[in-house]
Amino acid sequence: MKKYLVIGNPIKHSLSPKLHNHWLKRNNIDAVYNKKELDNDDLKELFKKIRDKEIEGINVTVPFKNKVIDYLDQLSVASNNTQSVNTISFEKNKLVGHNTDIDGFEQAIKDIRFNLTGKKIFIIGAGGVAPSIIFSLKRMNVSQITLSNRTQSKAEKLVKLFPDLKVLKWGEIPNFDMIINATSLGLKDSDNIDLDFSKIGSGKLFYDIIYNPKETNFLKMAKSLGNLAENGKKMFIYQAAAAFKIWHGIMPKINSEVMSLID
Ligand code: ATR
Repeated sequence: MKKYLVIGNPIKHSLSPKLHNHWLKRNNIDAVYNKKELDNDDLKELFKKIRDKEIEGINVTVPFKNKVIDYLDQLSVASNNTQSVNTISFEKNKLVGHNTDIDGFEQAIKDIRFNLTGKKIFIIGAGGVAPSIIFSLKRMNVSQITLSNRTQSKAEKLVKLFPDLKVLKWGEIPNFDMIINATSLGLKDSDNIDLDFSKIGSGKLFYDIIYNPKETNFLKMAKSLGNLAENGKKMFIYQAAAAFKIWHGIMPKINSEVMSLID
């Protein structure tokens, strides 16, 4: 039986196995998808397992999206541009890194029919998913992207990849049409982001990459101020579907059954 894995640290919360195992079953593919918590020191051994065909493919999550690049033979254009890999395949004896977060985010935004052309975007957080979000936003022709991260040096590093990215000090809030929470704040129900949005007005889109819990305090606050709120569930499902397509050559169905798997 073929084996697939999602790696990360922590990884307990990952719902990728639920989704992939559902699609494997529906498509009668004899394979299993598991999750594995790793440390940096385990990466070398893991990639040997792919070369030895003990594992067929890997999804990568925080904090390894950039670190795995050192072990790969080839990168897709998108993963090279973002220096971020979330899906690994072994093709023609080469370990190839892909980035399906970019398409996942774009598809999720298209679904809610929020036209981003010419819009001002404010991203908070510079973690693993930030470069993919920025790349995707640029592709959707936004007019300006501003980013703020508690540790400013990490935000400045992103300017090397995206020279027109504007960085603000933590605590400063610019005028924006859409704000994206790309921090890990919200994973715990008690998490609150220490930023004051009371003066930003209404009618903006608040987007949280987090999908579990369904409604973070960030999204609750957005709604109470009269804004649109969207969580990261669709982005998560679309990135998984794109990874499934890379490995199995089949675009899996995204229907109400799949949507309810992630509730
Ligand atoms: P990684 O940083 O390993 O890529 P991540 O979960 O993708 O992990 O990113 C965590 C993000 O949440 C970072 O932007 C982090 O800010 P720092 O770079 O300053 O650590 C942000 N974050 C986590 N806890 C936070 C807090 N209490 N206040 C503000 N930002 C926080």
